[in-house]
Amino acid sequence: MQFTFPTETQELATLRVDACALILFEGELSDNPVLRALDQALSGILPGLLEDEQFTGKKTQSFTLHTHGKVAAGRVLLVGAGKRKDFQLNDVRSLTARAVRMANASRTRSIGIVLPELEPQHAERVAQLVTEGAVLSCYQFDKYWTGERKKPSVLSDVIVLPAVPGAPAGSPSSDPAIKAAQVRGVARGQAVAQGTMLARDLVNEGANEMTPRHLAEVAGKLAKERGLELTVLGPSECRELGMRLFLAVAQGSNEEPRFIHLTYRPSGTPRRKVVLIGKSVTFDSGGLSIKTSDGMLDMKMDMGGGGAVLGAMSALSQLGCPDEVHVICAATENMPSGTAYKLGDVLRSMNGKTVEINNTDAEGRLTLADALSYAQEKIKPDLMIDFATLTGACEVALGPHCAGVMTNTQDASTPLLDAARAAGEEMWPLPLPERLSEALKSDIADVKQCGDRKGGCLTAGLFLKEFVGETPWIHVDMAGPVKATSESGHHSKGATGFGVASIIEFLLPRS
Ligand code: BES
Ligand code: MN
Ligand code: ZN
Repeated sequence: MQFTFPTETQELATLRVDACALILFEGELSDNPVLRALDQALSGILPGLLEDEQFTGKKTQSFTLHTHGKVAAGRVLLVGAGKRKDFQLNDVRSLTARAVRMANASRTRSIGIVLPELEPQHAERVAQLVTEGAVLSCYQFDKYWTGERKKPSVLSDVIVLPAVPGAPAGSPSSDPAIKAAQVRGVARGQAVAQGTMLARDLVNEGANEMTPRHLAEVAGKLAKERGLELTVLGPSECRELGMRLFLAVAQGSNEEPRFIHLTYRPSGTPRRKVVLIGKSVTFDSGGLSIKTSDGMLDMKMDMGGGGAVLGAMSALSQLGCPDEVHVICAATENMPSGTAYKLGDVLRSMNGKTVEINNTDAEGRLTLADALSYAQEKIKPDLMIDFATLTGACEVALGPHCAGVMTNTQDASTPLLDAARAAGEEMWPLPLPERLSEALKSDIADVKQCGDRKGGCLTAGLFLKEFVGETPWIHVDMAGPVKATSESGHHSKGATGFGVASIIEFLLPRS
């Protein structure tokens, strides 16, 4: 998909595109110069049409106008943006996505988008947001569709137009510094979108295909494409390293586990060493503490953390990042069988701590605990962040769109929360109350695997904290936002690719 930002202002009536989208604020239709120009071209029918459609520019409103040759664009798409006072820069992403979805409904190849007036200082971000919105709204997981249904978007040209037609020459977009910012923004937007779509593809794929071995192959392909170092450990190598928690989760399955470690090294001296760990349970049946059929339905998505860190790595290594970045995916299935791990088992972790198992469905924290120990022993990072679809309790606490963020170092998590806000992903801080650790006391081991229902996402965080030592660490529980139950904005139904955009925003400084 190509993005252009014309320097010459163009009259709407002569703009040769299949569709032209107008982003309109509520209650500001009558004094909008673009609409006035359009109305002239349509010989004055617009006010009546808007009245009939009851279009006032509310956030949920939109409508498609066929122009029957009266203007060069075959269709004009009116997209309501809500009240101007509620508008935020990030809305450009979802507004673009809405416009592009409308355009795709009529198989459009080129679209012009007239955005609200925005300060030239935001040129890079606006270009990035438009790119993300346009590319991501065309995503569909269509590899298993056959026949008529398979109709990928044909949109190839997006032209972003200045808000006011006939603006004087020397208007912002002809400034070379702004041009350069727009080019950077598009490149960044493309990388975020590609990384997010990679994550969505991995997470949407069924567990029959997306096995631990397959995930390792994906990492291998990424390593090759991007010149990354890759280490993949099989069961015997993991046993030698003492990863008994990770292996216990894997032992009930016929699929072999894979411990995946990818490394990106910047060209100069690294600013710092960052480890990104993604929970990569390719299918979570619950094990012997088996889930209900309904509870298992989405559990191919239990590698959403792994998808996010792999997608982010793809983008980071493409754009270049000042940090040395390590991605770790301890990939395994969690299955019940005659060889499955059992309740009451006591297991020794990689760092020597012993764990009493009391619910085999709390498997994620076991895989993460050994990954955290590995990171400290082998990498000695300045910061570790894990992304995990860890607890249903987190979704109950924060709702389906928001991830919970826990940390042992407040100073480290604040920039991540800021980055998430800038990236348009919802994350909210949660505490790790020392008193709640009581719930993890075991009579026969150093720690119990899980507590009761009360504060379920916090006790999971407290369990992980047992394995991070003094290293700054952030835990992101993304059980809710890994998936969407309906299409909205730049999200399609199914996997969202949550986490990718925030990681990039967090690790990649803007020039
Ligand atoms: N993968 C699940 C968590 C999950 C639930 C993710 C729903 C997405 C949607 C995790 O392994 C799990 O089963 N957690 C248990 C923890 C409990 C046994 C302490 C849960 O949330 O019920
Ligand atoms: Mn589970
Ligand atoms: Zn799980």
